[in-house]
Amino acid sequence: GPETARLVASRVLDVPDFPQPGVLFKDLMPLFADAKVFRDVVDGIVAYHGRDGFDVVVGIEARGFVVAAAVAYAAGVGVVPVRKAGKLPRPAHSISYALEYGEATLEVHEDAFTAGHRVLVVDDVLATGGTAEATLDLVERAGGTVSGFTVLLELGFLGGRERLAPRPVHALLTV
Ligand code: PRP
Ligand code: MG
Repeated sequence: GPETARLVASRVLDVPDFPQPGVLFKDLMPLFADAKVFRDVVDGIVAYHGRDGFDVVVGIEARGFVVAAAVAYAAGVGVVPVRKAGKLPRPAHSISYALEYGEATLEVHEDAFTAGHRVLVVDDVLATGGTAEATLDLVERAGGTVSGFTVLLELGFLGGRERLAPRPVHALLTV
């Protein structure tokens, strides 16, 4: 709710020209480091989707891992990491996509998902939506059923929500 949004806003630092000129980097490390805000955020995500509303949580390397592990623990389910290229040791699905800056490839193990399991995907920030779109496609290609997608911070002006439509986006704070 509005209280959680206010807490998120209070713990995001704007860093100009990182990692390259013209990019305003949203640093959520202060949010992760604040015990009360981090707990509120994690509990808010679980409450939104329902404690029994998902069977597994996907976290997107690297900042999404922080959120995913905590949400999974709070809900009593497991975590599937979606990793950057070349990190997974066994056969994996792979998708390349354009970032706000540069290009990236994400991968997930072919046997990561149990048929019929509902997958909640989480990340820290939704910007252009490239990372999220690739991840949601990857989960479905691997046989998972995406039941929700949540970010702590949505940069509304970059159009990620529209890019992902009609898939719903849940953001704790939109700027
Ligand atoms: C950042 C952020 C999101 C993504 C959002 O990750 O953590 O995952 O960008 O951008 P998009 O919506 O335009 O795709 P980044 O790729 O910088 O890597 P990191 O999480 O490992 O820091
Ligand atoms: Mg990321």
